[in-house]
Amino acid sequence: MFKKEVYTQRRHQLLQDVADGLILIVGNTDAAFNYPNNVYGFRQDSTFRYFFAHDIQDLVGVIDCENGEEYLFGEDVSMEDIIWTGPVLSMKDRAAEVGVKNSGSLKDLAAMLNKAIDARRKIHYVTPYRARTINYISELVHIKKDWVMAYSSVELMKAIIKQRSVKSAEEVFEIEKALATAYNMHTTMMKMAAKEGVYEYEIAGTMEGLALAGGGPVSFPIILTTHGEILHGHDHSLQLRKGRMVVSDAGCETSLGYCSDITRSVPVGGRFDTRQKAVYQAVLDAQLLVPTLIKPKVPYIDIHIAAVKCLGEGLKAMGLMKGDISEAVKEGAMGLFMPHGLGHMMGLDVHDMENYGENYVGYDKSYTRSSQFGLASLRMGRELEEGFVITDEPGCYFIPALIDQWRSEKKCEAFINYEEVERFKDFGGIRIEDDVLVTANGCRVLGKPIPKTVEEIENAMQ
Ligand code: GLY
Ligand code: MN
Ligand code: MN
Repeated sequence: MFKKEVYTQRRHQLLQDVADGLILIVGNTDAAFNYPNNVYGFRQDSTFRYFFAHDIQDLVGVIDCENGEEYLFGEDVSMEDIIWTGPVLSMKDRAAEVGVKNSGSLKDLAAMLNKAIDARRKIHYVTPYRARTINYISELVHIKKDWVMAYSSVELMKAIIKQRSVKSAEEVFEIEKALATAYNMHTTMMKMAAKEGVYEYEIAGTMEGLALAGGGPVSFPIILTTHGEILHGHDHSLQLRKGRMVVSDAGCETSLGYCSDITRSVPVGGRFDTRQKAVYQAVLDAQLLVPTLIKPKVPYIDIHIAAVKCLGEGLKAMGLMKGDISEAVKEGAMGLFMPHGLGHMMGLDVHDMENYGENYVGYDKSYTRSSQFGLASLRMGRELEEGFVITDEPGCYFIPALIDQWRSEKKCEAFINYEEVERFKDFGGIRIEDDVLVTANGCRVLGKPIPKTVEEIENAMQ
């Protein structure tokens, strides 16, 4: 963990930003894989980790906004626990490790909350995303399970978003550690994809192993597919065949839980053909434009629009689009080729803080989410600030079912050359993704550069 002052300072900031009541921060518990004693790898809740650090099961933190007292609740271990899982710190020592004075059992927590509820005090908690947490909060605060989500505290979540959006130097250092592992994952992928006949699962498995060997799990299930047009393609059953692009979207977590999120797209066999090179260059031009535009006060939605316009110009040069590309963008024509957003916040979660609600994290009073297909999927639209870490991940996809639907509806006919697009239905997709820190005057693409130009990729695959 970071030094304890980091966590103390974060909790003190929260005390400044939440007016009154008790703040309840519930850590995660184990989730059964196929029977209770055989569990999934433990993943601590990111909010808990941000304020109370400990990466272990069944802990709850409480901050009293009126008197400033902080508490860590959980059970001291029994001899049985020591036999099966080894010795661990007492609750008192655990609390002290993160600068918290008070500790107690989960029974003590329930009693404290009952008292607060009797006194009609507010209990703030963030929107839970696991059934067990919903049930537990329902028990603790005595509200029906169905109402737990609705009663989560917007005041608390906004206060946390304010803090977590701006990454400190030590957080950026962690993210760059995760990127060092991602470098190994993706350059290994490039070497493996140079050989036709390899199975996608062999590459995905090797990449996941590298993430674990780097000290953490993957930051989300690896996307490794020769069908890149399936945006979250988690199926890895196919053999690599010449003529396909491999889309590899993968990252890892560090031991402190900070993420990386990188995508590279490479041609099976190691050499781009003419068509692959043209689509790839159009996506790359858009991806490289983004860091030239990122700086504080620029709304990310404007950069999304600039990036899809750049992509559109590239597709027009290839004969896939036609007409005025600025108009095409306004009319939503780019949604056919890039039905997702340019990027999202990244930190302790790969889509940072998404459990609080995307609109609270990525939008505000000045910038609200568009309802236009494609642009509606943009997770981050608001103005950038120094310290934000965001992804830059344009893509271009040829989704046969979507092409058929749009063509039958004559959608955006003035801008899309459907005759030509038909010929790309067997293409798949391409996405290129980096993680970017917003600095005082611009930005810094984080991590050691991973081969990205056509030439760099072809060289890396030799
Ligand atoms: N890994 C999913 C994404 O890039 O957002
Ligand atoms: Mn990604
Ligand atoms: Mn991403």
